[in-house]
Amino acid sequence: MIKIFISFATITTTCFFAPIQIQAQIQDQQPIPSLKETFKNEFLIGTALNTSQILEKDVTANKLITQQFNAATPENIMKAEIIHPTWNQFDFTLADKLVEYGRKNNIKINGHTLIWHSQLPRFVRQIKSPDSLAQFFADHITTIASHYDGKVLSWDVVNEALEENGSLRKSIFLQQLGEGYIVEAFRLAQKAAPHTELYYNDYNIEQPKKRAGAIEIIKKIKAAGVRIDGVGIQGHWRASKIPLAEIEQSILDFSALGVKVMFTELDLSVLPNPWDSDNADVSATAGNSKGKDPYPNGLPDSMQTILAKGYEDLFRLFLKHKDKISRITFWGVNDGQSWLNNFPIRGRTNYPTLFDRTYTAKPAFYAVIATKK
Ligand code: G3I
Repeated sequence: MIKIFISFATITTTCFFAPIQIQAQIQDQQPIPSLKETFKNEFLIGTALNTSQILEKDVTANKLITQQFNAATPENIMKAEIIHPTWNQFDFTLADKLVEYGRKNNIKINGHTLIWHSQLPRFVRQIKSPDSLAQFFADHITTIASHYDGKVLSWDVVNEALEENGSLRKSIFLQQLGEGYIVEAFRLAQKAAPHTELYYNDYNIEQPKKRAGAIEIIKKIKAAGVRIDGVGIQGHWRASKIPLAEIEQSILDFSALGVKVMFTELDLSVLPNPWDSDNADVSATAGNSKGKDPYPNGLPDSMQTILAKGYEDLFRLFLKHKDKISRITFWGVNDGQSWLNNFPIRGRTNYPTLFDRTYTAKPAFYAVIATKK
């Protein structure tokens, strides 16, 4: 079997190094299965893309992205601080490149995100008058959503508007515009982007109290006669502690409201967590990495197994509810790219995705593929 990939010249001239060459050639000749092909009848399979991936700077990354994914979410470049840096200036340079990348590679783009309290440009953080904030709010949504109408599949219109107890987060938008700001954001987006799907996106909304808050948001938008097409459960969980029962209940509760359910930022941390709870609040930090970075040189088999089992359990659940779920997006192409290397503690070595730092498929990847067999 192996011999068919070794040329005669290779055997006779470099036989001492043959095992390494054989391996390399086998990898070239036998591509790994494709996530997007495997799940093509069930859901879109997405990834977060960072700037260098959008600019196609890394050939290996690019090959893997186009082979594995048919959906993508920009990790940062459509956030307000980048796309709308000053009052009168929009910078569509990188986001337009992303849209072109998606068009060229048949990758559907989810815009992320129109209204979020984090990564706001300085000029917005300094606004003290509700009138000025309302003007920014309307300009921002209308200009960006209309620029990309028909060019992106969807928008996370509002991101992370809830506290853990299900009440509305005391963001600059709530404080200055009042609680109607969420319905207003969807109303403006609907008008500016009639050909684009509109979503609410948040983390931990599988948990009962926060889920109740998300249900209330969705109901209020619908009661106002405004369109909302889907809800994104982000999916930042710990590999050894995935809240499967709550996730299943959320899929049922959200889809009963008549919206699509998506898992939009999936990653599974394998590192110790200082709070013993799931948290994706980017303003939270927990000291330095001393003594809290147990696997700087590689993930032991025991942890690879836990990670693979976590992904397997999740995908079995996703497949059980495939009629209600439209997309599964991983938050990062490979482990090296993950935000979890710097959160909640900076400078650690985490392993939350399906591909390692050399873009090689991990046991978790094969466990996900095997759920279809
Ligand atoms: O752009 C600056 C750059 O100018 C500077 O040189 C560099 C030095 O640290 O920082 C750069 O900004 C970083 C930015 O990512 C772009 O790389 C920020 O420090 C860093 O905090 C920021 O992190 C992003 C985080 O959102 C910030 O809110 C992560 O990449 C991104 O994965 C993460 O994504 C969020 C989702 O949007 C919403 N849900 C939670 C998820 C994870 O936090």
